[in-house]
Amino acid sequence: MQKMKRSHYCGELRLADAGQAAKLTGWVMRRRDHGGVIFVDLRDKSGITQVVFDPMISQVAHELANQIRNEFVLCVSGKIRGRGEGATNPNLPTGEIEIAADQLEILNTAQTPPFLVEDDINVAEEVRLKHRYLDLRRPKMQKALLTRHKAMLACRNYMSEQGFIEVETPILMNSTPEGARDVLVPSRLNHGQFYALPQSPQQFKQILMMSGIDRYFQIPKCFRDEDTRADRQLEFTQIDYEMSFATQDDVIEITEGLMKRIFEEAADIPVNVPFNRMSYADAMSRFGSDKPDTRFDMELYNLSDLVADCDFKVFSSVVSNGGQVKGLAVPDGANQFSRRDIDELTNLVAVYQAKGLAWIKVTENGFDSGIVKFFTEETLNAIAERMKATRGDLMLFVADTPKVVADSLSNLRLHLGRSLDLIDHNRYDFLWVVDFPLFEWNAEEDRYEPAHHLFTAPSDDSIPLLDTDPGKAQSQHYDLVINGNEVASGSVRIHRWEIQQKILEHLNISPEEVKSRFGYFIEALQYGTPPHAGIAPGLDRLVMIMLGEENIREVIAFPKTQRGACLMTGAPSDVTDFQLEELSIKIDA
Ligand code: AMO
Ligand code: AMP
Repeated sequence: MQKMKRSHYCGELRLADAGQAAKLTGWVMRRRDHGGVIFVDLRDKSGITQVVFDPMISQVAHELANQIRNEFVLCVSGKIRGRGEGATNPNLPTGEIEIAADQLEILNTAQTPPFLVEDDINVAEEVRLKHRYLDLRRPKMQKALLTRHKAMLACRNYMSEQGFIEVETPILMNSTPEGARDVLVPSRLNHGQFYALPQSPQQFKQILMMSGIDRYFQIPKCFRDEDTRADRQLEFTQIDYEMSFATQDDVIEITEGLMKRIFEEAADIPVNVPFNRMSYADAMSRFGSDKPDTRFDMELYNLSDLVADCDFKVFSSVVSNGGQVKGLAVPDGANQFSRRDIDELTNLVAVYQAKGLAWIKVTENGFDSGIVKFFTEETLNAIAERMKATRGDLMLFVADTPKVVADSLSNLRLHLGRSLDLIDHNRYDFLWVVDFPLFEWNAEEDRYEPAHHLFTAPSDDSIPLLDTDPGKAQSQHYDLVINGNEVASGSVRIHRWEIQQKILEHLNISPEEVKSRFGYFIEALQYGTPPHAGIAPGLDRLVMIMLGEENIREVIAFPKTQRGACLMTGAPSDVTDFQLEELSIKIDA
């Protein structure tokens, strides 16, 4: 075997290199036999170069090149030369040169791959995931992994410069109250007992503040047994950090610097700081969502006061029962949307439990809809004015509980924004959502739940409310949203035991449960805990957004499917009876 040390990567050769000798290694992307001369596109992680096997240059290499098939692994030596007039490929960075091969070594052969290893392929995702090693050879996937690497590197450099130190925390630990279902691991040495994999290093990072670390960061794996979605995996990666003697503004400032560094260094996307801030109440009222996509308008308007006494019973009865009527105006929608289109939108909001979608068109001849007769001209004008609807617009309304109205109209808004092409895809809208409520009411279980997690501090003003009206208490929890995606979540933490105790009481967690689940934490809190605050951006979501992808699976080397499976390795899988016996576990399936 010849020495395989390459002289260049495939993607880096240019016309200025012509005349030099080159030795390249890589995979065969394509082979074309042009009667006598064989062309091979050779690919490595950097790109593609065309290699020519001409019997006039080397009979031996040309003969061997006849055996080449897709995905064979080659080592090729030859001279770099300019391609002839008319033979250049402007779509390829190396499109002006080729290698005239004088030596070829086939380092390995390959089975016929189940799909072509190139970017524009139309293959079922299961096939890509099963043969992920082939999928990852595609330039797009190589770029995703490189971007992810650059993002982590930028993060480590920046955090270290800012005085944070990276500390690893355990993977095998106790169950933590992050809100999702734990992934459990049975203990062999302690039969019947289980470790939980971390949903996040939340307790450990707070303990590190109690340990005097002052500024901690880590890029940890987190595990949550929840339904997988486009932006959710069973196993994902956070950039986790925590700061002592810090306020919300300190965490926000560090995070803005981090985002700027990551976006600029990993993806060349310029970022302006500081980011806008919006209160949770504003976000819910204007967008029906705590992660609004602010790249387009089409805001929601509350019309409850205007329609409380109207003759359209659907509206007035909802208002008198404590519900809401809200609407949005679709610019130029009056002519664009037929009845059937509106029926489709009605089906869409029905998914979010809306019982209907009322509509009124603003036309040349006034207001047009089957329900116009139930309103006075004055009310119709007031509705249109509030919604900033002008001639040609379509007004859409949902009447229901605030939750159903928010869910249905926010999703309708996103659907319309996408389908009407109202979104500027070159924009990156970074937005802080602040002033969240401390608790959410869980009507099914008739109890409060923490809106973020139970270590989040109430705002100073809200402390008296804990005793009088806990539902109104605000927290020091903040989320970072980019283009409608929640990318980071964090809070100022409770550092005083009395307050932590009060929160646990409101959450109806019994003293026994507190003791067994995080007694150690409560104890630690009482040994001089400094004020501290932190946050955790999701790395997968950040890289997804930087690359304009719609699913985090596209930026994770070995992701899991919706059913939590790794199609390449076959995990999860059965284990032997012996293994189960050792764990003292019986399967009851
Ligand atoms: P939270 O649970 O909001 O906060 O998570 C923080 C960020 O992690 C990302 N994320 C996910 N990404 C992919 N798949 C998932 N299943 C998934 N779940 C969460 C999101 C999210 O914004 N310990 C707290 C942080 C803190 O308070 O400091 C926490 O984990 O981008
Ligand atoms: P109906 O009186 O049920 O025929 O409804 C008349 C119009 O009001 C239809 O366009 C329905 O889609 C709409 N509608 C019904 N219920 C609601 C609701 N809760 N919110 C908004 N529109 C509704």
